[in-house]
Amino acid sequence: MSDKPTPKRHISGQKKAEDRGLDGLIRPQRLDEFIGQERLKTNLSILIEAAQAREEPLDHVLFHGPPGLGKTTLAHVVANEMNVNIRITAGPAIERAGDLAAILTNLRAGDILFIDEVHRLGRAVEEILYPAMEDFVLDIVVGKGPGAKNVRLKLPKFTVIGATTRLALLTAPLRARFGAVYRMDFYEQAAMETIVTRGAGILAVPIEPEGATEIARRARGTPRVALRLLRRVRDYAQVRADGEITGKTAVSALNLLEIDSLGLDDLDRRVLRSIIEKFGGGPVGLDTIGASISEESDTIMDVVEPYLLQLGFLERTARGRIATPHAYKHLDIPMQPDGKQAALF
Ligand SMILES: Nc1ncnc2c1ncn2[C@@H]1O[C@H](COP(=O)(O)OP(=O)(O)O)[C@@H](O)[C@H]1O
Ligand SMILES: [Mg+2]
Repeated sequence: MSDKPTPKRHISGQKKAEDRGLDGLIRPQRLDEFIGQERLKTNLSILIEAAQAREEPLDHVLFHGPPGLGKTTLAHVVANEMNVNIRITAGPAIERAGDLAAILTNLRAGDILFIDEVHRLGRAVEEILYPAMEDFVLDIVVGKGPGAKNVRLKLPKFTVIGATTRLALLTAPLRARFGAVYRMDFYEQAAMETIVTRGAGILAVPIEPEGATEIARRARGTPRVALRLLRRVRDYAQVRADGEITGKTAVSALNLLEIDSLGLDDLDRRVLRSIIEKFGGGPVGLDTIGASISEESDTIMDVVEPYLLQLGFLERTARGRIATPHAYKHLDIPMQPDGKQAALF
């Protein structure tokens, strides 16, 4: 191991250690406590009710969407609603086929196996998972060499809940084994306000509606970001004001954190500036953008790009990313007459 730790930026949508303890408290436990995503909730409740009425385990479920929107939370909610155990793992954590076999043989009927980052399962592991999900069997090889035998074990009927930020990276056969696939979208302003207000209630911080509105507006439609900003604004209100989160304290705190009126942070702005100032507005590939600002292209793809696309600041073309006129306007950078910004190098 190198003794030089790689510097870690503070990234929107990613979890900081300090936030973890509180997550358990703030996490909604039941479907009716889960705010927003109304269509998804309706579909999910039908899926659950139907399975319960038939006294069958739930079909395999896949949640996909940007980080921080509630995929892990929903997996727990489903387990609570079905009143079953949930076993939690993640794609990169299951290294060998044997690891998965051990997990599968320890499941009980009805249990949920939650696999986070399910697009990162290894090939050999996936091949064990296919028959397990489809026919609830485990095919293993016993012994070595010419005496080796294929043995098929029966598994209890269980449910896989997968979560991914990258649906496109899921192999087709794996995707096909999920009976229900749900996309999570960025939250509407009203839902975001409710999430902030509820979070403040749990944290016992007094908050005015204007304060909740301001935090919600700058949280890029992402509950995890909203709850993090809430904590930072709470600190500010405590140190610089009388502890209550008013509209004014929220604005001052968020400005100090360099979160702008649309929720863009320093990283978002650096990505846009790089496209505009270094690459003439694009098209330019994500890896090139990442290299030019020394950021992981994975972070840009998972956290930055979806929100900039949603705002209409970025366009994705076959040749790369393009900054739109809206992005120039927001950053107050004049566009060149030919519709492009001249490259500065
Ligand atoms: N609909 C919601 N209502 C209230 N809080 C939510 C909601 N969705 C997510 N959260 C909170 O946001 C945080 C991130 O959610 P999480 O499920 O970990 O997201 P993901 O797994 O998609 O990255 C958690 O603290 C969770 O409690
Ligand atoms: Mg998660």
